[in-house]
Amino acid sequence: MTHRDIPFSKPYITELEHEYVSEVLKSGWLSRGPKTKVFEEKMAEWLGVKHAIGVNSCTAAMHLALVAYGIGPGDEVITSPYTFCSTANVILHVGATPVFVDTLDDFNINYNLIEKSVTPRTKAIMPVHFGGNVCDMDAIMAIAKKHNLVVIEDAAHGIGAKFKNRHAGTFGHAGAYSFYATKNLTTGEGGLFVTDNDDIADKVRELSLHGMSQNAWNRYEKGGSWKYAVNAPGYKYNMTDIQAALGIAQFEKFDEMQEIRKNIVTWYFESLKEIKHIRLPECTANVIHAWHLYPIVIGDVERFSRNEIIEALNDEGISTSVHFIPVHLHPYYQNEYGFKHGDFPVAERLSESEISLPLHPGMTKDDVHYIAAKLRKIILR
Ligand SMILES: Cc1ncc(COP(=O)(O)O)c(C=O)c1O
Repeated sequence: MTHRDIPFSKPYITELEHEYVSEVLKSGWLSRGPKTKVFEEKMAEWLGVKHAIGVNSCTAAMHLALVAYGIGPGDEVITSPYTFCSTANVILHVGATPVFVDTLDDFNINYNLIEKSVTPRTKAIMPVHFGGNVCDMDAIMAIAKKHNLVVIEDAAHGIGAKFKNRHAGTFGHAGAYSFYATKNLTTGEGGLFVTDNDDIADKVRELSLHGMSQNAWNRYEKGGSWKYAVNAPGYKYNMTDIQAALGIAQFEKFDEMQEIRKNIVTWYFESLKEIKHIRLPECTANVIHAWHLYPIVIGDVERFSRNEIIEALNDEGISTSVHFIPVHLHPYYQNEYGFKHGDFPVAERLSESEISLPLHPGMTKDDVHYIAAKLRKIILR
């Protein structure tokens, strides 16, 4: 079999992105402006939410959500340890305490354990939709309702995913999406905050641009006013029109890109199902999976070293990744909060045995067959 080099992820950029970005560059308006507004309107309509606000990352969207809902010192926020650090970092940024709840085998938070962690200080739940799968939002919203908690969905991986035919990220009081370079829809760096709450949307819009009054974004434009008021100590989290132009192009191609991902995943399932000792990803009931990641789990890590498999795949030109090192195992969280190995056994077991295989629209059926053949050879040797 001829050697191939297969990146873990690669943005699917065509002439359309070049055309739309170049339009913005020629327009003379590069920062937040008309293109961001168009992108926000398109996303709001497609997602079925009242407000979609473009920001510079999912991290920013989650941080703004916590600030806008008044979550702060003394408050506890329940989330999954099986996530990227930023989900927990933003809870610390507002001075609140992250309370982790272990996961199910499908990598998502174990909703059966959430209620046990609710205390009088609990103010919010931040479920994380892992890899493009979706948490059971019926169960989570029922707990939130019973205890009067705010739900902020970390839908960084969730663009294109649905639960009971409704978009991931639109069940809670607020949702946050990531358009980072590896995501199914990318703006290079970028994110989106969504909510149906008018007051929260006003706050987030203002806080995303220094807390300045909302007419401030166009203060340098002809007809714009130089006057603005700072109503809160906000942040520099706004999206730019360059990012929005990328986003609009990606959105126009989104169905096509998702279709390619779905095909790649079908080929993965077909060609990996015979290989013993690996568990293939599951799609939870009632979910349309976005297939941001294709995470496999090595069944017997005592016998097959996950890290050696990663290295052997790398030698064959196949780049992979691991999602995630659980947040509670990072030095800062251990040193400052006393978390230790053994606190969240399911998340830890998954983390020790998971490999995310390459998945992006530039891949072919032959790439998938090459990966499957190499994986089979490595595991059976
Ligand atoms: C689960 C999860 N949440 C949040 C983020 C943060 O996204 P961003 O890089 O857009 O801030 C990521 C990033 O990949 C993520 O994987």
